[in-house]
Amino acid sequence: MKPFQKCPFLFGRLAARDNFIDRIEDRALLKQLLSSHVNTMLVSPRRWGNSSLVRMATDELCTEQPDL
Ligand SMILES: Nc1ncnc2c1ncn2[C@@H]1O[C@H](COP(=O)(O)OP(=O)(O)OP(=O)(O)O)[C@@H](O)[C@H]1O
Ligand SMILES: [Mg+2]
Repeated sequence: MKPFQKCPFLFGRLAARDNFIDRIEDRALLKQLLSSHVNTMLVSPRRWGNSSLVRMATDELCTEQPDL
């Protein structure tokens, strides 16, 4: 890679929008639980994308159901 060329990989930040891939079923389930007012806890090893999943799911929910 040439110096100063933009790095295509994301480090040190939550994955969001175009950087967020997959997690289709997890995202759908989390959104269903949250919109049904079910308290939900995610359990996984560190750095497996928990915060990014929650951020993405809540962003989508807020857009889809602004009154939630
Ligand atoms: N869905 C995703 N698509 C692409 N990259 C992802 C995704 N989820 C996470 N990542 C990558 O993994 C990194 C860690 O994600 P994140 O901070 O969401 O994990 P975490 O489980 O909350 O970590 P921590 O244990 O530090 O709280 C992100 O910076 C990003 O590079
Ligand atoms: Mg986290």
